Amino acid sequence: MGPVRKPTTTIELRDGLTVVLRPIDDGDRQALHAYLDGLGPMARQRRFLQALPHVPDRLLNMLTAPAATTLVLVAMHGEEIIGEAILGPDAHDPAVAHIGYSVAERVRRRGLGRAMVGRLLEVAGDRGVSTVRADMAADNHPSAALLSGLGAAMRFEDGLIVAELECCPRHLVAA
Ligand SMILES: CC(C)(COP(=O)(O)OP(=O)(O)OC[C@H]1O[C@@H](n2cnc3c(N)ncnc32)[C@H](O)[C@@H]1OP(=O)(O)O)[C@@H](O)C(=O)NCCC(=O)NCCS
Repeated sequence: MGPVRKPTTTIELRDGLTVVLRPIDDGDRQALHAYLDGLGPMARQRRFLQALPHVPDRLLNMLTAPAATTLVLVAMHGEEIIGEAILGPDAHDPAVAHIGYSVAERVRRRGLGRAMVGRLLEVAGDRGVSTVRADMAADNHPSAALLSGLGAAMRFEDGLIVAELECCPRHLVAA
């Protein structure tokens, strides 16, 4: 996967809340820390597939200064981060990209997770990626339902659910 286009867009959630999706930047570190802290240990574990009782600096570094081939999106409500999502290349196969995402608990089930994944699929498609993959804990039903609703093929592998989406006609992923 080559360097990715960095889209900024404004969306409206199901209840009318206006949210800006944009690439993260250096100045977001404090807001990101507050957001990830507020997610709590269980959602952090689901998002990052490791126990994270606290938000480590290395995670903030990784998300706020991603490699050129990686896109980190933040969902902004005013100055507050209410969601984040990442699209990164596979280490071996340029036709494959990996995604991860999370949404603040108080704004879940309003379509933000689906909108962020949709945006990542559009970027991936633009960049010539043919398969987008997400790995999630075997009990992560919300995430599995989100991706299966977008048409992902699901399988179990090494104790995780692996979801794969073929990229990516725009009409299937529009927010
Ligand atoms: C998974 C997560 C990102 C979903 O975010 P969200 O904004 O609530 O998702 P959406 O509102 O876009 O939901 C899209 C669809 O996913 C499914 N879904 C989402 N949450 C669900 C839940 N709790 N139970 C069942 N289905 C659910 C539904 O099909 C939903 O469509 P519908 O509301 O029209 O029925 C959110 O629950 C989260 O942050 N979880 C913790 C972190 C995580 O697990 N990340 C994924 C690991 S990669």
